[in-house]
Amino acid sequence: MKPYIVAIFNQKGGISKTTTSTNLAVCLAAHGKSVVVIDLDSQGDSTKSLGVDPNSKKGIYDLFIGSAELAEVIQQTMFEGVRVIPSTYSLAGIEIKLSEMKDSQRTLSAIISQAQLDCDYVVIDCPPALGILPINALATAHAVIIPVTATPYANDGLLRTLPSIKYVQEGLNKALLLQGVLFTIHDRHKSARKISQLIRARLGGTVYAAEIPRDNMVIEAAAARLPVCIYAPRSSAAQAHLNFTGEFLDRHQKIAAKAGTEVEPPLSREVALGRLGRWQVELASKVSRPADDRLRQKEDQLDRMLYGNRTQFERWHLSLIHYFIDHRLYLMALLVVIMVSGLFALSMGFEGLRLLSSAIGLS
Ligand SMILES: Nc1ncnc2c1ncn2[C@@H]1O[C@H](COP(=O)(O)OP(=O)(O)OP(=O)(O)O)[C@@H](O)[C@H]1O
Ligand SMILES: [Mg+2]
Repeated sequence: MKPYIVAIFNQKGGISKTTTSTNLAVCLAAHGKSVVVIDLDSQGDSTKSLGVDPNSKKGIYDLFIGSAELAEVIQQTMFEGVRVIPSTYSLAGIEIKLSEMKDSQRTLSAIISQAQLDCDYVVIDCPPALGILPINALATAHAVIIPVTATPYANDGLLRTLPSIKYVQEGLNKALLLQGVLFTIHDRHKSARKISQLIRARLGGTVYAAEIPRDNMVIEAAAARLPVCIYAPRSSAAQAHLNFTGEFLDRHQKIAAKAGTEVEPPLSREVALGRLGRWQVELASKVSRPADDRLRQKEDQLDRMLYGNRTQFERWHLSLIHYFIDHRLYLMALLVVIMVSGLFALSMGFEGLRLLSSAIGLS
């Protein structure tokens, strides 16, 4: 079986690459698919989130340098149908190692084609920034998904990410497809909606209809080292991840049909949700809710990551500007009415104003 390989990539940090990778993996498994997650980030976040210790055995680093076989490295996770090729902390030193090797940009591709991974999907969680590891991921993948958050920096991340994908499409991997752009950590406030509308207008159908809302359950889940779709399958973020997985599967089916290959249909959304619920119950005894101060610390970290050092006041200010832009016609009409009434009152005096108000039934 030849897996469909998808890289989750954006050069910007902290915009939910890992959260997207691990939730996509468990949702695919819940739909009856077999998945291998490759953790290419030395932080080992997706390894941890799938219940594997990045400090433990050998990992992707050892495959890169040829000191281990796939069977020694790949690990079954707690979730039926999901295996992981973990990151270990030694991965931080891979740039130097790979720079000494021949054809270093295609090392992962060579590993995967030799290893013959027996699964339906491979999900590659990329590190932030463009280095040898994301280039390897893009050179190996059939498709790439870009998670984006609708913050004032979103465009900046996209502007840096799209050319990197184009660079790989023009040389290392001509078949690489941009499967889609996914809005993540989506705030409901005005300025976020404005930014997402602008990006949707520019990228059209490339953007998935599903948007993953900002939901503190994701932070709780990450602190408990679980994907939110397992920790709280009925939370708004988990439901949105399920919707996204449905779209991902649809798009893949269309791509496969175009290429003349057949893909076995996935289990239904209802069945997938039921399986996630079962895994939640099975794991419940092993999971405890993280302490409130730890969660608050994580939320603050996320705010700093998304909005830089903008204060709360500056963020309200930004929302206000967007509000004025959106409602400028109504506001101008209101201003004209106020000015005309003022002029009328001045020219007619208070008696005129009294007459006017009685004429329109106010007195
Ligand atoms: N929908 C969401 N709602 C709230 N918090 C979220 C959501 N998605 C992700 N987060 C939180 O945002 C932070 C960054 O997410 P994540 O680690 O997935 O991003 P990343 O792009 O992989 O980061 P890095 O670039 O460091 O690898 C984490 O604390 C995560 O729990
Ligand atoms: Mg990450």
